[in-house]
Formats: sequence, C-alpha cells, structure tokens
Amino acid sequence: MRADLEMVKALLDGSRRVVVLTGAGISAESGVPTFRGRDGLWRNHRPEDLARPDAFEAHPDLVWEFYNWRRRLVAGCEPNPAHRALAELERVLPNFLLITQNVDGLHVRAGSRKLVQMHGSLWQVKCTVCTHAREDFGELPALPECPVCGHLLRPGVVWFGEPLVPGVLRIAIDRVSKADVFLAVGTSGLVQPAASFHQLAKDHGAVTVEVNLEPTPVSGFMDFALHGPAGEILPELIAGIADTASARSTGGGGR
Ligand code: APR
Repeated sequence: MRADLEMVKALLDGSRRVVVLTGAGISAESGVPTFRGRDGLWRNHRPEDLARPDAFEAHPDLVWEFYNWRRRLVAGCEPNPAHRALAELERVLPNFLLITQNVDGLHVRAGSRKLVQMHGSLWQVKCTVCTHAREDFGELPALPECPVCGHLLRPGVVWFGEPLVPGVLRIAIDRVSKADVFLAVGTSGLVQPAASFHQLAKDHGAVTVEVNLEPTPVSGFMDFALHGPAGEILPELIAGIADTASARSTGGGGR
C-alpha cells in the first residue's frame, strides 16, 4: 500500500481539479456512528422507520427523537485528522471541491468551505408548511414549532425518496465530470447518486481513488484502493502536497 500511497500523493500534487466525496466513515474516528458498518446507526434504527417523509408524517415524535439524539451526539464530537486534512487540501490546491453525504457538519467545523453537503445538515431546520428555514445549533424541543406560522419544523436533511436540494446534483455532476483526480473516502458506495460518481469521473478521464477501512463493492472499479483508517491515510496523503505547496510559495520547489 505504501507504493500506492506515494503514487496517489504524486497524482494529487500534480492535479488541477480534485473532487473528494466523503461518507460516514470519515466521521467514524470522531465517534459518529456510520450507517451500515459494525455498530452502524441503521442496526438499531430502521431507516425506513425514521428517514422518510411518510414516516415523519406518521410519527414525527419518533423521528425528532432520533434526530435530536443525533444532534446531541454529534455536538459532543470533534473533527478528526481526516476532516482537517481535507480542509488543508482545499487550502493548497487551486481547484478543489468536497462533496459530502454527511449531515454532521464536521467538515465545516474543520474549516472546509468549498463544500457541498448533498444530504443537508443536522443543524438546519425548516418548516413543513411555510418557507422558514434556519441554522440552529441549540437544544430543540421534542416537537419544534415554526416561529413564523406555528406549524411543525422538520430536520433540514434529505430523506430517502426525496430529491436533492435543487442545484446540488448539477454542481456535483459538473465538477465530478471535470475532475482529474476523484477521491472517495469512507463511503460504502451503496447509496445513489453518490455511488455513481466514481464511474462518472472515470468516464471523463479522472484517476479514481478509494480510501476506506475495508474493501467495498466499488473497490475493484477504482484505480487505487487505500485501505485503513481515513484519519491516518488522509494526513499522510496531504502532508506531501502541503509541503510541496509551501515550498512552491517560498520559491523552494516547483513542478
Ligand atoms: N476510515 C475509513 N473508512 C471507514 C472508517 C474509517 N475510520 N470507518 C468506517 N469506514 C467505512 C466503512 O467501511 C463503510 O464502507 O465507511 C463506510 C460507511 O458506510 P455507510 O455507513 O454506508 O455510510 P455512507 O456510505 O456515508 O452512507 C451513505 O446512506 O443512509 C444513508 O443518508 C445516509 O449519507 C448516508 C448514505
């Protein structure tokens, strides 16, 4: 794996357009449970019971209990070295986009700004009736109400069966298809549309790289598959780039 890691490092350093896709695995080392892995969230909670619009209509109290529990859990977690490495990569590469399926907000807290949160955010709430929407990091009541119209608020996340926020998919597809390096980190590669991004990138000529604790259904389709904890692999990958970039900016190196 060492040789592959060095090759990916060199690729990143020489690349012009890098797109990184992240999933729940990148937050695992922060203490946020993944969905499908060992101790995954969906082991104790059936997603079809909790993350669907019709489930919310039928049992808003149960769904809010689940989201309020996740908000409290994530509020007690910190970004880990993998989140911080991607924030650093954004700083040193000229054309970078981070697309995350995660709703935990840890990329933002780590400093990432060139970021698309495909599935929304745990920290967004929006009215089920009017246009009220806000970011809210506080403790919410069991059934929070809209301050404008009094109707029920809902989490600002994209549930199963719901379309993505308008424009998000267009931006993601545009940038993925223009990438010269595409990196998928900590995602099982099972949930669309993100699960197709590596193929889209490859079809348009990108080199594709997976960083995951273990092989996934898409590992075999990747040009490089780096297996191990993201919190160890990403800082190693990024260290080389950051060093070269700082050497370039001080005139000490170049490509
Ligand atoms: N480092 C790298 N990868 C890890 C680590 C780690 N420390 N820990 C776990 N992983 C990997 C697992 O091997 C698995 O492949 O992260 C992946 C997590 O997969 P999922 O739990 O399926 O999460 P994700 O792919 O993000 O799920 C996609 O599904 O339920 C929906 O909306 C939810 O956004 C989520 C979407």
